[in-house]
Amino acid sequence: MSRAPLRVAVLGAGTVGREVVRSLIECGPDLVAADGAPFELVGIAVRDLGKARAAGLPAGLLTDAPAHLVADPDVDVIVELMGGDEPAHTLIAAALAAGKSVVSANKHVIAHHGPDLEATARRTGATLRFEAAVGGGIPVLGPLATDLAANRVISIRGIVNGTTNYILSAMADEGRDYGDVLAAAQAAGYAEADPSGDVEGHDAVNKLVILARLAFGIWLDPADVVITASADGPGAGRPGITGVSAADIATAAAGGRTVKLVAEARRAADGSIEASVLPTALASDSALARTAGVLNRIEVEAVPVGTVAFSGPGAGGAATSSAVLGDLIAISRELGSTWAGLPPAAAR
Ligand SMILES: NC(=O)c1ccc[n+]([C@@H]2O[C@H](COP(=O)([O-])OP(=O)(O)OC[C@H]3O[C@@H](n4cnc5c(N)ncnc54)[C@H](OP(=O)(O)O)[C@@H]3O)[C@@H](O)[C@H]2O)c1
Repeated sequence: MSRAPLRVAVLGAGTVGREVVRSLIECGPDLVAADGAPFELVGIAVRDLGKARAAGLPAGLLTDAPAHLVADPDVDVIVELMGGDEPAHTLIAAALAAGKSVVSANKHVIAHHGPDLEATARRTGATLRFEAAVGGGIPVLGPLATDLAANRVISIRGIVNGTTNYILSAMADEGRDYGDVLAAAQAAGYAEADPSGDVEGHDAVNKLVILARLAFGIWLDPADVVITASADGPGAGRPGITGVSAADIATAAAGGRTVKLVAEARRAADGSIEASVLPTALASDSALARTAGVLNRIEVEAVPVGTVAFSGPGAGGAATSSAVLGDLIAISRELGSTWAGLPPAAAR
């Protein structure tokens, strides 16, 4: 017997949202799992309706009132792809409180409001999935919660921010200073006008907090993740990569090392979780050091599996839409939240 379609509303039609909408319109029937419900795209929320129409988005589905889609009883699933804290946070919380399923790629909201959102979803029985929030198209949260569920995770570390990886690679390849490369990256669109979220490490912190939720069963407070480099290593006591100099990179290279912004969470001897996002001089022939450009890589050390690694495209609309659409298919198959099967997270 065919199942009733899931009525999906997409909030935000930018780099990622556009790709998700395109796939739902062009490949909708192909996205249906044999044991899942089909999708029906019923609304798209944007800020600028004229721009969205000009971009070819279906005029009949567009609205500039995302809250109306969240409140609409004829919408079953909210796909939040707007980014930022508000109104995304309030919209996600309202959808979960109403028992609707939510897919989000918003690492800021998941990392900063994770405990409350998880509590709400568990209370109402709603589903919250966020695979796209870490590593773009790389499947890593799902495998942590499912295929690796029998393991005790010792550490998780990785390169999870493309902007800083691009800047550090360009500094190493061209021998240029941080300020020069950042300005060029901004001009080329690889870094934002306000780059602080990336270069000070906050974006990587958010992703590490989400990884730690699946790996260690706790929601870390983003403010507790160390982002200030040590005064005597690369980064000169400044946050993220903002203090990394051409001299730091040259010194590392002379010792066969490459400076990368490494996000790491590790189980300490007393059972607590130590977490940091720091510029780190890695052996240049290691897989992490060779992770370049838009690629991300996440390594998980666990017992009994040993070390496993996940690498692939960490950003980009098409790659990230893969994770969002995968979450939608999981919802259609009623597989539950990203943490399904794991115990509720320990409080912060
Ligand atoms: N881009 C990537 O490669 C990537 C990878 C992984 C995760 N993500 C995450 O995915 C999310 C979306 O990223 P993106 O790069 O697609 O962003 P984006 O290109 O800036 O697109 C954001 C979209 O949301 C809309 N929007 C923003 N605020 C709104 C509001 N208050 N009301 C209605 N619409 C609103 C914008 O509309 P207007 O254009 O009309 O302003 C735009 O359509 C973010 O959480 C990001 O961190 C992105």
